Amino acid sequence: MAYIFGSISILIIAILGIKYVLMLVVKLNQWRLFTKLPPGSLGWPYIGETLQLFSQNPHDFFTTRQKRYGDVFKTHILGCPCIMLANPEAAKFVLMTKASLFKPTYPKSKERLIGSMAIFFQQGSYHAQIRKLVQASLSLDNIKPVIPKIEAMAITTLDSWANGRVVHVFHELKKFSFDVAVLSIFGELDSYYNKELKDNYVTLDKGYNSFPTMIPGTSYFKSVMARKKLGKIIKEIMEEKREKRIATRDLLGYLVNFNEDGKTLSDDQIIDNVIGVLFAAQDTTASILTWVLKYITDYPKLFEEIQGEQMEIYKSNGNGKQPLTWTQIKEMHITHRVILESLRMASIISFTYREATQDVVYNGYLIPKGWKVLPLFRNIHHNPAFYENPQTFNASRFEASSIKPHTFMPFGYGSHACPGNEVAKLLMLVFIHHLVTQFRWEVVGPQGGVEYDPFPIPQQGLPTKFFKTSDNTRLKPSTLTC
Ligand code: HEM
Repeated sequence: MAYIFGSISILIIAILGIKYVLMLVVKLNQWRLFTKLPPGSLGWPYIGETLQLFSQNPHDFFTTRQKRYGDVFKTHILGCPCIMLANPEAAKFVLMTKASLFKPTYPKSKERLIGSMAIFFQQGSYHAQIRKLVQASLSLDNIKPVIPKIEAMAITTLDSWANGRVVHVFHELKKFSFDVAVLSIFGELDSYYNKELKDNYVTLDKGYNSFPTMIPGTSYFKSVMARKKLGKIIKEIMEEKREKRIATRDLLGYLVNFNEDGKTLSDDQIIDNVIGVLFAAQDTTASILTWVLKYITDYPKLFEEIQGEQMEIYKSNGNGKQPLTWTQIKEMHITHRVILESLRMASIISFTYREATQDVVYNGYLIPKGWKVLPLFRNIHHNPAFYENPQTFNASRFEASSIKPHTFMPFGYGSHACPGNEVAKLLMLVFIHHLVTQFRWEVVGPQGGVEYDPFPIPQQGLPTKFFKTSDNTRLKPSTLTC
């Protein structure tokens, strides 16, 4: 009898023990037990699906998986388990609604080249503080007074192309977008500093996407060295600004003069953010402007419409004798729509990255802590559910307010959305005005392909010959023989 009681007691204790352990596991890891990972394949151990990604166009890689698994799917690339989000609600969830649960994440090698205190890599109060300063410096109120300078830069750039030589448009436009970025960051800048900044930034840029090794002579090593020099140059400019005690309304002025309850920014914080904004501004704007040029070359009717709009303004300015005004720029509706459609079609920032800082559940799916999360902007922009015939260039789709909420995110969304979007659009409008009213051009060389640099750009940066013309009203770029 005692033996039976003993066995029953042990059984009860064992059952209670198992129950307790199970409850503990459930409590500790509730999400993981009751939620599942999104569908998809994690590929081979460690390499995951990296080889498949690099053996094809990244858009095709994501699109085939979206068709197979749905809008939310998992994969494993470049050593990281990832969850891809190809619908607007999921992108909004990560970038806005639950943004505090997802931190921006970049490879360390790239963070080192820009500077770890730069706005992109930050979250929370420091990010909000820097963002306020960047937004203020790039606000339209601050940019409007420098429109004549941006205009002068556009004219100088175009004039320097117009001698019939072959111009690789993307690479040349990088110089223009760099100059405009320098203007919004530093205001007036001594030509010595301007050249030093440019030379070192070019070296930094060349190694940005190279293999990150600190062996002397490699592109990455040269990039790191150029980054150090850039830091020194910016520090000198900063010290001059402090000595002169002028509160300028450019980005450097805002950063240097920041003082909230006696709290100021360190030199490193300022330098990292100056380089960060230079970096954010240059390739993005140059790439989109190159696509605009490509689309208006490919679609002569589009060119005619833009040219019609711009010629009216040009004539009302005494054939370009008067500078453009803000009111005129605001009225460039057709050109603006062409820029928006180019942003959608080219979707140069195809996706962005975040990392889950804790286990998160989205729509019944588990996003485990430490996994990367990638909102796929391009897939959203090319989804026929949101854009009829998404592969067709159709600027008129931006005419009415027919674009569904959160389906157009070329400048991102939420707390890290692009603060430079108005400047980018303004400088494109100014550039296009002068391009279509006073120049004709012919694209030479290959015309169909796309290269990644790392943003998508037309093959070879769109090799083109430009010519200046006095009466342009009847010219159509793609039909000209030069
Ligand atoms: C057509 C040109 C441009 C495009 C398509 C573009 C796109 C974007 C996108 C998608 C983001 C968000 C990235 C993310 O959420 O991870 C972003 C952020 C940013 N962009 Fe732009 N951008 C452009 C031009 C510019 C310009 C001209 C500037 C500055 C003068 C600029 C400054 C920034 C900065 C500072 C951020 C980081 C914001 C933050 O982390 O809070 N961008 N941009």
